[in-house]
Amino acid sequence: MLREKYAQEIAAILARYPVKRSAVLPLLYLVQREYGYCTEEGIREVADIVGVSPTQVRGVVGFYSLFYDRPIGRHLIQICDDLPCALRGADELVAHAARRLGVRPGETTPDGRFTLETVMCIGACHRAPAMQVDLEFVENVTPEVFDQVIADLSRDGT
Ligand code: FES
Repeated sequence: MLREKYAQEIAAILARYPVKRSAVLPLLYLVQREYGYCTEEGIREVADIVGVSPTQVRGVVGFYSLFYDRPIGRHLIQICDDLPCALRGADELVAHAARRLGVRPGETTPDGRFTLETVMCIGACHRAPAMQVDLEFVENVTPEVFDQVIADLSRDGT
């Protein structure tokens, strides 16, 4: 239970906000750190802590692309396929990424290293197509750039 394990951290988070429900985002990061993703149990705990329904917390998890509602690989590749990126080749890039990794969007490689996702605009339209790899932006992504990113991530053995 988060409440017991992180009592002090939770109290410190809640103290930063005038109303408890404003603490949903940092509490969900805590859930993700603890469980690896936003588990149903974690969502219920957050809802209980801030006094909203689990459905409301689930809605937050679903809205933000940096919250995961299922286990993900050690590296998360999120390719934007929203309109500006699509006009600059995002669909072909996604197809290339899927071939290169051997998974479809939404899936994780069997070795647990990479999860491939398509996401809505990540705010880098001026350098489309864009993707986010873990927390790093990569812009003007070509298949060659994509392959280099995967090669770099593979080189460190993670
Ligand atoms: Fe892809 Fe905005 S549409 S970053």
